[in-house]
Amino acid sequence: MKIAVLGTGTVGQTLAGKLSASRHEVTIGTRDPKATLARNKPDNMGNPPFSVWKEQHPAVGLDTLSGASAKAELIVNATSGGGSIEALTEAGEQNLNGKVLIDVSNPLDFSRGFPPSLSVSNTDSLAEQIQRRFPQARVVKALNTMTASLMLEPDKLAAGQHTVLVSGNDADAKATVTGLLKSYGWSDIIDLGDITTARGTEMYLPLWVRMFGALGNPMINIKVVR
Ligand SMILES: NC(=O)c1ccc[n+]([C@@H]2O[C@H](COP(=O)([O-])OP(=O)(O)OC[C@H]3O[C@@H](n4cnc5c(N)ncnc54)[C@H](OP(=O)(O)O)[C@@H]3O)[C@@H](O)[C@H]2O)c1
Repeated sequence: MKIAVLGTGTVGQTLAGKLSASRHEVTIGTRDPKATLARNKPDNMGNPPFSVWKEQHPAVGLDTLSGASAKAELIVNATSGGGSIEALTEAGEQNLNGKVLIDVSNPLDFSRGFPPSLSVSNTDSLAEQIQRRFPQARVVKALNTMTASLMLEPDKLAAGQHTVLVSGNDADAKATVTGLLKSYGWSDIIDLGDITTARGTEMYLPLWVRMFGALGNPMINIKVVR
């Protein structure tokens, strides 16, 4: 499948690398490809600069947000929560219309330091804001409740015996995403319902951040025992 991964951070790199290794045709979207490739310092988490990652992943394309989205059949939003609407606007509404848009972003607001607060909550969510702004995109919220390295490699933790939650208005789009997740080993996939259910998965982040702080380890996830 032709997939655009919008985002050059840890999530964008991790998802693009894994999807590309499984023979999907992947292009990463960024605001300014030249500037992104010119980055030569590790990010604030100590990860190597994007150019180093890109050299190690020659099969992954790099394009503008609109260039990557135009040729994609499926799009992943892996941009920072505060920049997601802006990034998707730059990707171009016409390039999103009718396509499955997997939204892994979280509306984390670090403006008052750590721990972050949520820029939207309770009666709305970033996923709903995206769906409202792009009514013909088929938004599916998924994977935002775990660290990047688990997203397409659930077996790295508890032999994959943990849970991924999906939200979205379009049943076919959710079936596409569920099929993709299954192909990477997910078996406990809970469809929470329409896109308003993303409020719950986004509001889980303050707890995730506190568990990360307490345990000192991001390799944690929800396991729903029933
Ligand atoms: N890190 C994780 O393990 C993890 C886990 C679950 C969910 N998430 C969520 O996934 C998303 C990506 O996280 P991340 O850690 O990989 O990277 P990030 O640092 O949160 O985001 C980096 C990306 O956001 C884009 N961006 C930032 N501000 C923008 C703006 N104003 N307009 C347009 N684009 C903008 C950057 O674009 P350029 O490429 O153009 O610089 C870059 O591609 C976030 O929403 C995060 O909350 C992260």
